[in-house]
Amino acid sequence: MRKTVIAGNWKMNMTPKAAGEFIHALAPMVKGKDKCDVVLCVPFVDIAVAAEAAKGTNIKIGAQNVHFEAKGAFTGEIAADMLLEAGAEYVIIGHSERRQYFGETDETVNLRTKAALAAGLKVILCLGEVKEQRLSGITDEVVAMQTKLDLAGISEEQLKNVIIAYEPVWAIGTGLTATPEQADETCGVIRKTVAAIYSKKAADEITIQYGGSMNDGNAAELLAKANVDGGLIGGASLKTDKFTAIVDAANA
Ligand code: PGA
Repeated sequence: MRKTVIAGNWKMNMTPKAAGEFIHALAPMVKGKDKCDVVLCVPFVDIAVAAEAAKGTNIKIGAQNVHFEAKGAFTGEIAADMLLEAGAEYVIIGHSERRQYFGETDETVNLRTKAALAAGLKVILCLGEVKEQRLSGITDEVVAMQTKLDLAGISEEQLKNVIIAYEPVWAIGTGLTATPEQADETCGVIRKTVAAIYSKKAADEITIQYGGSMNDGNAAELLAKANVDGGLIGGASLKTDKFTAIVDAANA
């Protein structure tokens, strides 16, 4: 009913040369594994090289952020049409590292998401609770609120180009993974929220990924859960064999 998407988030890793070599090595390893979409979200300067290397393969390229204005005096920012022309099809928005270290708020995440969708990019929208929120028992409220704020003003038609990545912040880069039950439950809360904002159809169709220390060892049980439609993978996306093993788990 909905597409499984396995996406790598390289974060601030890999030069353009390394990106090209990685994709040439990965392409034959994931070839024909069509039960999921395979995406790599790479640093801005890697996009053109990565897109060229991915031509004729089933690997799609994404960026890790986009600004909400079309152009102008925004030193250090990147516009959606620049990403598209460089060869990006996807963009990650609202990653917890952007929220934590670079002052992103639900408001800027919403603006960036609207701009990206209007320009024709597909969005991987990240949200999730921090450790204290999970321990206080308010995870459901937090993710429901983020879902509502981040998607404000986005139409049901536009939502077809949105993937939501549920990423508990305490699980990112820590080696701690949500249990499959926790991932399923919280992805389910997000899906219910989408149903409440839009419709049951929209909720049934939207891809909701889990992210946070997903790796070759735990991917199969996480992906087996009904509400988990893929993964957003940081550390394990930097190694062709580990990333391929996750793609394999999604194709089993
Ligand atoms: P991780 O990162 O897999 O290294 O925990 C996931 C993410 O930040 O998207």
